[in-house]
Amino acid sequence: MSVTFEVLEKDIAGRTGRLKAGDKTVRTPLLLPVINPHLQPVLPGEMKAMGAEGIITNAYIFSRSSEYREQALASGLHDLLGFDGLIMTDSGSFQLSVYGDVEITNLETLEFQKAIGSDIHVPLDIPTPPDADRMRATEELAVTMERLCEAKEVFGPDAPLAGPVQGGIFEDLREKAGREAGKLGFSFCPIGAVVPLMESYRYPDLVRVVMAAKKGLPSSACIHLFGAGHPAMFALAVAMGCDVFDSAAYALYAKDGRYLTPQGSYRLNELAELPCACRVCRDYSAQEIRESDDVIRLLSLHNLAVSLAEISGIRQAITEGTLWELVDDRCRSHPQLLRGFRELLKYGERLAGEDRISKRRFFYRGDESCQRTEVVTYQDRLSRLPVSGRVLIAMDGSMREGYDTLLLFKPPFGPYHPAMSETFPIGQSEIPDWDKGMVTRGCRGILRLIAENPGCHFTVYSRPEWHDLICQELPGTEVYCGNS
Ligand code: GUN
Ligand code: ZN
Repeated sequence: MSVTFEVLEKDIAGRTGRLKAGDKTVRTPLLLPVINPHLQPVLPGEMKAMGAEGIITNAYIFSRSSEYREQALASGLHDLLGFDGLIMTDSGSFQLSVYGDVEITNLETLEFQKAIGSDIHVPLDIPTPPDADRMRATEELAVTMERLCEAKEVFGPDAPLAGPVQGGIFEDLREKAGREAGKLGFSFCPIGAVVPLMESYRYPDLVRVVMAAKKGLPSSACIHLFGAGHPAMFALAVAMGCDVFDSAAYALYAKDGRYLTPQGSYRLNELAELPCACRVCRDYSAQEIRESDDVIRLLSLHNLAVSLAEISGIRQAITEGTLWELVDDRCRSHPQLLRGFRELLKYGERLAGEDRISKRRFFYRGDESCQRTEVVTYQDRLSRLPVSGRVLIAMDGSMREGYDTLLLFKPPFGPYHPAMSETFPIGQSEIPDWDKGMVTRGCRGILRLIAENPGCHFTVYSRPEWHDLICQELPGTEVYCGNS
């Protein structure tokens, strides 16, 4: 009955995993398309065929619907929706945050979600908006936590319950909320009330909120980012350790005449071509979609296809250890996403502790790459590099006589022993012509090594063009100009 989560592979703080709820097993990262029974442009059964292993719908809508309430109670959601994958239901919390009031209690919505056969139930949490002050955020979080306790007490430790994490924009509250949800035994935790941050492109705030919640949450919990539906931000969120997304965006954007791509969205009106390989985009021209009576459905099908494909690409990137490259790609499509990416890079030390040690490759993409976890980890491990006596760091690549230890240099990592030239990251990193940022970062590695080995004497040979920068970065070190 209970919800279990098993991590299979890791990359940055992201992971591929297996989520089990009831008798359903799904792969993560996972996208749950949002189903609205009243206006559904794509049928749940069609979504399954497109690769959606789960869906999410709002129990509150069913409970208030004269059309569907009885049917949902009588035959269950899977039957009613024609979907045999995982079905998660949300409570009335979203309505609560939008309309201010719902006529349902925490226990009523949970009873109803259970009665209609939902695979994951959500208590009636209070989504505290980002503009709420600390007092309001604290009070609302206390109510949310009481409801999570109540849910566990009434339905038992093995009920398939989600434990939403609230706390507004206050990082300490988010962390505390995450820790308490973990202590209460929730193994599936949505991070809530982030929709307003995403709608206003406040990605740096989103990163801070998610990283704070993750700090408190157990690493074994499956993390759902509530309301995150734009494929351009999935990679960034996965890198922080989010496992599940729900997308209403595919339908909302379609209704608004917008065409999603993993690099951002276009208005259908401004597209002369359809840069996508999905069925719709191969069967129709942009002009034909615009003129079709079914424009919302066609756009929804496309939007969903690219969202699901992005999730597949992310799973593949994690498997091969290239998630940073994907995050870097995606976050360059919007300046605010780039700000979010840069905010995430500030957590380099913490992320390095979660990241795996060996990957398929490291492609240098500019200054941001200097702060990647692989660089942090490499430099943290430099204290283990065996050096003694007179140490030569041949930054120009030429070995010389008269030294006890011979080292080479690869920016942005730093010094390495020739025997490491085939090992990760030295052997698997693709570095273009040196630039100032990577050389500066690599010099930090040299400084670490010098600091760790006070008994050694270090001599650096640099190429002439880098001599001045290296002297500046390594004050007090003997730096000569090589000839190469
Ligand atoms: N959907 C989007 N955000 C939220 C949230 O914070 N809580 C719940 N229950 N549903 C949401
Ligand atoms: Zn398409």
